[in-house]
Amino acid sequence: MSQEPMSDVMLDCYQVSKNFGGLQALDNVSFRVKEGTIHSLIGPNGAGKTTLLNVITGMITPTKGSVSFNGKPLGNISPHEINQLGMAKVFQTPAIFPEMTLLQNVCIPALAARDGAFKLNMFQLLSKGGQIESFAEETLVEVGLQGVMHKEARFLSRGDKRRLELAICLAHRPKILLLDEPTAGMARHETEQTIELLREISKRGMTKVIVEHDMNVVFALSDTITVLAQGAVIAEGTPDEVKGNPKVIEAYLGEEQE
Ligand SMILES: Nc1ncnc2c1ncn2[C@@H]1O[C@H](COP(=O)(O)OP(=O)(O)OP(=O)(O)O)[C@@H](O)[C@H]1O
Ligand SMILES: [Mg+2]
Repeated sequence: MSQEPMSDVMLDCYQVSKNFGGLQALDNVSFRVKEGTIHSLIGPNGAGKTTLLNVITGMITPTKGSVSFNGKPLGNISPHEINQLGMAKVFQTPAIFPEMTLLQNVCIPALAARDGAFKLNMFQLLSKGGQIESFAEETLVEVGLQGVMHKEARFLSRGDKRRLELAICLAHRPKILLLDEPTAGMARHETEQTIELLREISKRGMTKVIVEHDMNVVFALSDTITVLAQGAVIAEGTPDEVKGNPKVIEAYLGEEQE
């Protein structure tokens, strides 16, 4: 496959492989995400989905292959710098500060987005934090957590912790948002609220990559779906194309439905 530049491609993973010792977690994966789309990455446990997200965000270095973001190659760029380029990731387990209030949790990335993380100074929150606080409040309104913004994060339900983490990511105002199982551990009604929330955010044109096991979420949200199995891409297409693909049914959907 050739690597022709395409103007609407925001994220371009080209022939990425990752070995962990003798285990090949990713095997020659090419994965392109177009700007403004919701692109889901699905596959059975251990397929390599989280590993691919970690390669994209610079958390791990690929054994082979390359990743570029808006045409910029990301090799040798730190996760922090990649984040500053406009990429944010929601982790499989929520990464929040439990002892801080929700508002404080969201103020930190809001301040970092404005001033740059290296200049981040919490004392500024006390002196000229007004604007930042109202921006953080708006972000909490977006995810529906405005009613509990002065609560410490540790008191939140699992689903609300994930919403808070989403707010923390949104406060960075990313160009692309990567979500690793955003509805994991959520009750049915929380899952539905999250789908609605992700749809709302999409209307603003934010590009998203979603790793998700819940097929209702995947089919409801995605423009494009890529299916990984044992580290390799076995199918890619619209939800309808992927649903009918026998390889996918065999490798993934069959297993899920039992
Ligand atoms: N740091 C690591 N060291 C060694 N092996 C690893 C490491 N991270 C992942 N693996 C292995 O790589 C393979 C892919 O794992 P990965 O976490 O990417 O899968 P996944 O598709 O995200 O699975 P799940 O749906 O369970 O989250 C698995 O076999 C896993 O055990
Ligand atoms: Mg995973």
